[in-house]
Amino acid sequence: MQRMPNAIQLTDLSHDELVGLYAYPAGPSAPYVRVNFVSSIDGAVSVDGRSGGLGTPADKLVFRILRDLADVVVVGAGTARTENYGAAHTDSTLRTRLWHHGFGGDPDGAPPRIAVVSAGAALDPASKLFTDTGARPIIITTAAAPAENKAGLIDAGAEVIEAGDATVTPAQLRDTLEKLHLRRVLCEGGPALFGDLITAQAVDELCLTISPMLVAGSEQRIAVSPNAMPTPMNCRHLLFADDGTILTRWERCHTR
Ligand SMILES: NC(=O)c1ccc[n+]([C@@H]2O[C@H](COP(=O)([O-])OP(=O)(O)OC[C@H]3O[C@@H](n4cnc5c(N)ncnc54)[C@H](OP(=O)(O)O)[C@@H]3O)[C@@H](O)[C@H]2O)c1
Repeated sequence: MQRMPNAIQLTDLSHDELVGLYAYPAGPSAPYVRVNFVSSIDGAVSVDGRSGGLGTPADKLVFRILRDLADVVVVGAGTARTENYGAAHTDSTLRTRLWHHGFGGDPDGAPPRIAVVSAGAALDPASKLFTDTGARPIIITTAAAPAENKAGLIDAGAEVIEAGDATVTPAQLRDTLEKLHLRRVLCEGGPALFGDLITAQAVDELCLTISPMLVAGSEQRIAVSPNAMPTPMNCRHLLFADDGTILTRWERCHTR
């Protein structure tokens, strides 16, 4: 039987205590895949196609902390295009401090890299992903992606890696990140990539914010895939913000 998880009022925590609740496992020997999502109470992953309408101050605070801790932010190309992804702009002093605590971060305070997973590499070389100042973006794509797409992204400054034939399997994604020594992985979605990761049993952790609103409509849920893969998870904590936001952290019951 699962023990009652930590249920904490957010205002009872200092910033350092909050960061400590999200520390990565010390010295991971392989990529540790944390996924972060925000959802409405009725399970919508977006409002009018964007996740911004679900964000609350508490969600934004944890979103930033998770980036401050990570080596790499992995995102599906659909989300990168819809949400107009740019580089991650993190707090370099905090990242150095987190590194010295063994929580994550970076010894030199360098920001996490953004890695976009795309089968077709059809990303706009003029988009913010390639023009924003910050760490060099990584495009994890396939041998089948048109050569001109890949060449355009290399010219735009990206590191383009062919990891699969027609699609990138979660195992190929993990191998690619391991070769780059990027082990503290933060996946920010979207639902298609998360669905692939769940069905491959490649999710170590989910941080899920419940935003205090109902949305209805025909919005997606946080994970979609052709086949279901029930995956038991343990609740690590529930944090309650004054505005009704609930911040949850779930860890996979590990068997591998
Ligand atoms: N609420 C939240 O926290 C949150 C978080 C993220 C996203 N969202 C929302 O989710 C929606 C986007 O959904 P989406 O289904 O488009 O999500 P997505 O998973 O970000 O994008 C799907 C695309 O990513 C690429 N991809 C995913 N898995 C792949 C794999 N295994 N191998 C190769 N390529 C792969 C493909 O790109 P190509 O087409 O380029 O080949 C695919 O078409 C947006 O409305 C966004 O706002 C919400």
